[in-house]
Amino acid sequence: MKAIGTIIILSILTSVVNAEEHQIPTAPQEYLDMQNPIQQSEIDEQFLKRVGRLYKRKCSKCHGKKGDGKGYHAESIEIKPAAFSNHGYMISRKDGQLFWIMLNGSEGTEMVPVGPDSDVGLSEEKLWELVTYIRHEFTK
Ligand code: HEC
Repeated sequence: MKAIGTIIILSILTSVVNAEEHQIPTAPQEYLDMQNPIQQSEIDEQFLKRVGRLYKRKCSKCHGKKGDGKGYHAESIEIKPAAFSNHGYMISRKDGQLFWIMLNGSEGTEMVPVGPDSDVGLSEEKLWELVTYIRHEFTK
């Protein structure tokens, strides 16, 4: 009985530590060096409406309508979604990093790949548009 108790306590401790120590994997340098092909001049009301609809449909249940990482689904998951509204965090992220995570997902979390080869199937252009949208709308 004692042994089982110890095992239970140990596994609770391990899962707490794992969640705290988790870090989003860093993209390879070639991705970090990438330039977002979307030009600032392309960002107009129509762009924001169009990409905003895509974000709402595919991303907001976790990342939240306001990009604060507090979507309705976020409560029930252990490793929390990134908060795009966290300015200090987002200036440390390169566009290519965000793009790479969208392409590949983050293993062991609910961030699944959403790029052209995934079930979600967004084109690379759409991914860059989402990077642009996220920064423009949420990171103030
Ligand atoms: C089911 C929940 C869920 C959905 C839906 C989701 N994400 Fe995520 N996302 C996460 C989680 C969880 C993380 C944090 C991963 C980690 O900590 O390793 C994350 C992280 C990210 C990051 C952070 C990358 C970084 O390096 O900081 C980006 C960018 C991102 N998601 C974009 C998106 C986009 C765009 C969509 C919609 C197309 C989307 N996500 C949909 C759960 C989700």
